[in-house]
Amino acid sequence: MPVASIRSICCIGAGYVGGPTMAVIADRCPDVQVTVVDINQTRIDAWNNSDLSRLPVYEPGLDAVVRRARGRNLHFSTAVEEAIAAADMVFISVNTPTKTKGLGAGQASDLRWVEACARQVTKSATGHTIVVEKSTLPVRTAEAVKAILASAEQSSDGSQVTFAVLSNPEFLAEGTAIQDLESPDRVLIGGEDPDAIDSLVSVYSHWVPQERILRTNLWSSELSKLTANAFLAQRISSINSVAALCEATGADVREVARAIGSDSRIGAKFLQAGPGFGGSCFQKDILNLVYLCRHFGLPDVANYWESVVQLNSWQQHRIARTVVQKLFGTVTGKHVAILGFAFKADTNDTREAPAIRIAKDLLEEGAQLAIHDPKVDSEQIARDLQLPASTEPDVESGLTRAALSGEGTWWPSDDIASAIKGADAVIILTEWNQYRELNWAVLAPLMRQPAWVFDARSVVTPSEIQAAGLNLWRVGEGQP
Ligand code: NAD
Ligand code: UDX
Repeated sequence: MPVASIRSICCIGAGYVGGPTMAVIADRCPDVQVTVVDINQTRIDAWNNSDLSRLPVYEPGLDAVVRRARGRNLHFSTAVEEAIAAADMVFISVNTPTKTKGLGAGQASDLRWVEACARQVTKSATGHTIVVEKSTLPVRTAEAVKAILASAEQSSDGSQVTFAVLSNPEFLAEGTAIQDLESPDRVLIGGEDPDAIDSLVSVYSHWVPQERILRTNLWSSELSKLTANAFLAQRISSINSVAALCEATGADVREVARAIGSDSRIGAKFLQAGPGFGGSCFQKDILNLVYLCRHFGLPDVANYWESVVQLNSWQQHRIARTVVQKLFGTVTGKHVAILGFAFKADTNDTREAPAIRIAKDLLEEGAQLAIHDPKVDSEQIARDLQLPASTEPDVESGLTRAALSGEGTWWPSDDIASAIKGADAVIILTEWNQYRELNWAVLAPLMRQPAWVFDARSVVTPSEIQAAGLNLWRVGEGQP
């Protein structure tokens, strides 16, 4: 096939990746029509909302990009078949969560949505279509995608359809998605058909310098995505393991991170100790890697990567345990304020957020949790905790009935001071900027004494906490 100039793109999946990625492609390539389709009508309606503060994904800078391109050459629709039929290039950007049952449950990726997309493409595509895997997939998934597409090429209804398959994994991080898409460290394109690769390169060349566009074979591309996430997550588990050792020995993990991060061979990024990694990708992708290693007869390699995930869960349980221990061994009936529920700052995403596991542990102990997050709504928190919100208790009147019964409860708090009022402890689990600027001299008198601040994100200034008469625990800070 000659190198096709791409005029029309369809992206299946209007989620955290499909939405922002296609918005940036449309913004940077005004000559290309980009249609993002999804089976979820509510999500598509939200992408079409005239109020740009209500897009389904919160990302700094996304509203401005959508404002420029939407309606011009960026469209959001549920008309999947129509958009595929009109497209020269179809991106598959659907969810690939960990399987919950059957073969490989708990580790392997659930590829049912990817397969459904491939089948949808065979039904609706016209002419020559380049199919691009944007979802994160187990290495060799392209084989299955190619086999499904080949079945349409061989059908004898006279319509000439042909396909090429590329792998183009996405490396954006939530919270910085627009910046990452507009100025990527690299764009990775894996494939066998050089013309198809050139076509996709021509799209990215609108704004990405040539030297940042890497070409590999299909399998290297698929595997590089899993490997990149595994390496990043491994650094977090490594520094969190050292944080625990710092607490036991009198060292300070922030000083250790600075000292080792100054070595140019190690580098300073991704050395922030915290409540463990969250997000939709790290755990799922490492577990997938573990599954693949076992599948390919490499149990020792599988065990090595699995330990990264185990250490992460351990860190989350360890923080909940520390809170209980510091509060005289019991949090039953105690009011604890949780600041931050999103898995990191600048996103409304709570998938695998450390706050979920830590809050669940404390609820199990009978704690009464006031939960504040500037971007996460209370329905999402209720779904994540599998527990409906209760009404905010009247602090003045003391313990509620639930508190006395030992039952854990939670309520959402829009305001930080009301979340903290009457609390025995504050736990900071997301590094939102507003938590760095809290006035502890004003907040401390609202708490029941002796009161604690547990800073799992290193955002507070210790001297301010101490001056306010509060006890402080910071991740990775030993007592010299
Ligand atoms: P998401 O759940 O936010 O979005 C996926 C969307 O696909 C959903 O809206 C769903 O309704 C839609 N969908 C599923 N099957 C469909 C079908 N057959 N037809 C039409 N729509 C369909 O997921 P996400 O976070 O955008 O992730 C997508 C992929 O990108 C995953 O493989 C993920 O691992 C990968 N990834 C995610 C990130 C991230 O930061 N979230 C970063 C890099 C890569
Ligand atoms: C990650 C990858 O960074 C990105 O390249 C990939 O495409 C998707 O997965 P994301 O999960 O959105 O992105 O955010 P990231 O910034 O990687 O943070 C993941 C988790 O690690 C968060 O919970 C974050 O708070 C935590 N983290 C990150 C740390 O605890 N310490 C660090 O030093 C860095």
